[in-house]
Amino acid sequence: MTTSQTFPNHFLWGVATAAHQVEGNNVNSDCWFLENLPGTIFAEPSGDAIDHYHRYREDIALIAGLGFTSYRFSLEWARIEPEEGEFSTAALNHYRRVLEACHEHGLTPVVTFHHFTSPRWLLAAGGWEDAATPERFARYAERVMDHLGDLIGVACTLNEPNLPWLLKELGIGGVPAEGRGEVPIWAAAAERLGIEAARVAPFQFTVSGPGFDVKLAAHHAARDVIKARRPELMVGWTLANTDIHAAEGGQANADRIRREVNERFLEASQGDDFVGIQTYGRTVFGPNGVVHAADGVPTNQMGEEIYPEGLEATIREAARVAGIPVIVTENGLATEDDTQRLSYLRTAVAGVASCLADGIDVRGYIAWTAFDNFEWVFGYGPKFGLISVDRATQERTPKPSAHWLGGMAQNNGAELELEELPA
Ligand code: BGC
Repeated sequence: MTTSQTFPNHFLWGVATAAHQVEGNNVNSDCWFLENLPGTIFAEPSGDAIDHYHRYREDIALIAGLGFTSYRFSLEWARIEPEEGEFSTAALNHYRRVLEACHEHGLTPVVTFHHFTSPRWLLAAGGWEDAATPERFARYAERVMDHLGDLIGVACTLNEPNLPWLLKELGIGGVPAEGRGEVPIWAAAAERLGIEAARVAPFQFTVSGPGFDVKLAAHHAARDVIKARRPELMVGWTLANTDIHAAEGGQANADRIRREVNERFLEASQGDDFVGIQTYGRTVFGPNGVVHAADGVPTNQMGEEIYPEGLEATIREAARVAGIPVIVTENGLATEDDTQRLSYLRTAVAGVASCLADGIDVRGYIAWTAFDNFEWVFGYGPKFGLISVDRATQERTPKPSAHWLGGMAQNNGAELELEELPA
């Protein structure tokens, strides 16, 4: 057996982006609003980003030219529905052209309907804890399907609905409703929006019971709308699933966190056509919380251990708990050293091959991310891109890792020697 047989025909080899991180000037979004508030937790505003909104044609041609077969990107709700109930045909037409460019270049478009950012009006209306949000999201999904549905290759409803619960355990976000008034950014947001601080509930930072229920209901409502129009289209959501380990004495804590952050959401994925897995490494928990990488252990730009083996573990966990096909919709490394990234990707892809060899139904491997871009609260510092961008000139330069992974796409994994697979 050769590894070229390990990866099934039509396996998706791709790179991903998210609208707010690359498009630029997403001025009607809640994230733009939060970036520019007094007391903001964002290192810098997103600004022009990498101007993908205008450069998508060249960007898509570049991705295809590197050999990839798929491009995952997101639609920006705040552009499509800038005021509640007011839909922009021009914005929908823009995304239609993006989808057409993917098809012209032979890329299967994996389309995320919501990647963290929402319209600012939604934030003012109670955001991701408000009972009417699932209905609002389904109405937007309906417009998207009517305008773009025929060109979508795979549909992802929500990106990382579970992230806030992971951030809470890492001690870097996930504020429950009662504490929001004391945090300067949420207090400032509440004042500008003219609502109570407890009602400021953006997607990526909100941890609460209603937050879980609203997201799950929104996912189901959008899934139903999408399936009603395209029954054969694969629909799922994508999850932030870190590989959870226990340090000495931390087993009970790690088990509780695995249940809350990973398994609960994987169980909720049952009934979907696939689940998107987004893994960057592992997280070790002791009895009192996260245990950081020891001195001397190689780390990424965020100071986390470099652990590409985590992907294989989370694919196996997803297949076991959700029992549905898996697509790796994000996996990557923040580093200035592309040699490190290449070696990371090689191990991660070998992990995927090992899962496939064991009969696990993995449909694709989509790396995060196509271009160095706006890494949310960290700004433009972290470099996750397979393609670098000079933001002064907007010039794009593929890194060796882009050529390597694009080559893998072209020969459907044949380059990965069998002996390199983990035992
Ligand atoms: C998100 C991306 C983000 C990446 C790296 C995921 O949580 O979906 O938008 O840039 O991880 O941190």
